[in-house]
Amino acid sequence: RMVKRNMACRNDIRRHDAPFMAVYKSLIPAEEELEKQKQLMARLENLVAKEWPHAKLYLYGSCANSFGFPKSDIDVCLAIEDDDINKADMLLKLAENLEADNFQNVQALTRARVPIAKLMDPVTGISCDICINNVLAVVNTKLLRDYARIDVRLRQLAFIVKHWAKSRRVNETYQGTLSSYAYVLMCIHFLQMRRPPILPCLQEMEPTYSVRVDNIRCSYFDSVDRLVNFGSSNRETIAELVWGFFNYWAYGHDYANTVVSVRTGSILGKREKDWTRRVGNDRHLICIEDPFETSHDLGRVVDKFSIRVLREEFERAAKIMHQDPNPCAKLFEPY
Ligand code: GTP
Ligand code: MG
Repeated sequence: RMVKRNMACRNDIRRHDAPFMAVYKSLIPAEEELEKQKQLMARLENLVAKEWPHAKLYLYGSCANSFGFPKSDIDVCLAIEDDDINKADMLLKLAENLEADNFQNVQALTRARVPIAKLMDPVTGISCDICINNVLAVVNTKLLRDYARIDVRLRQLAFIVKHWAKSRRVNETYQGTLSSYAYVLMCIHFLQMRRPPILPCLQEMEPTYSVRVDNIRCSYFDSVDRLVNFGSSNRETIAELVWGFFNYWAYGHDYANTVVSVRTGSILGKREKDWTRRVGNDRHLICIEDPFETSHDLGRVVDKFSIRVLREEFERAAKIMHQDPNPCAKLFEPY
């Protein structure tokens, strides 16, 4: 009887696969947007090469990690191997060149936490932020993109979760909620923990890619073409995974004692990370370990007010997935 009931539940939840797939498909950027991004990158590369012939430009963030929505701004990192550069001077020089090249809304924000130059390209209409030597972001962008190539369900789940987080306004780090980067890591971790697993733990496998950035060794198995069947013995569908994800963050996660870790593909104790108490502004109320900067908790922005907002939103989402006849409509209702 138990088996029968489980089957009934399953069929019930799978009725929602089609509407969730429709949402997912509506969020994938069109091919021509990628073309425009490439066009803009080529122009920027040209401009940068004239001033700094040894510099390289890399895309990072959602425009390059395969979790980007349509019409997103693009993030660019200018990498230059030179010990005595002054970032502020460089950004001012860059802004000068951008203006001279007819880019619009050019600004150098030299005193921001991550100093950047901003611009809008009148040809493609794309806005862009350029930072200097933020190479770890380029490397973690590659890690996310490589995970996405293993099983399409990661991209499906992460698009739904990001869309939910934006609709419900819990994707605002300056308000104490989580970054898109944190949500994607939560999705990867969730899929690593399914039984059977849908994603492997690339950092625990024999490395095929290894770079050293700011004294951090970043290595993992990146020949993901060899892993495209990895998750095939798990047949869960998008609706089941959305259900499971919210259920985990609403009722399953031990907020008091644990840390989710994509690096190890497991749950760690706060104790072993020494994340049990507040240090400075880091309260560790929800702990998500950065895969490379392992002392870095992506939940550090969350405070005692925003943790309640977050957990209430996880519970709201879980309840909708359990009870609502049309969860897809309700889940994304604007806050
Ligand atoms: P959207 O712009 O919301 O679509 O998503 P995004 O993928 O661009 O994510 P986000 O703006 O959160 O982050 C941009 C990139 O910064 C990420 O992809 C990471 O490569 C990098 N990053 C590294 N550390 C952090 C961090 O602590 N917080 C955030 N937000 N980003 C980080
Ligand atoms: Mg972004």
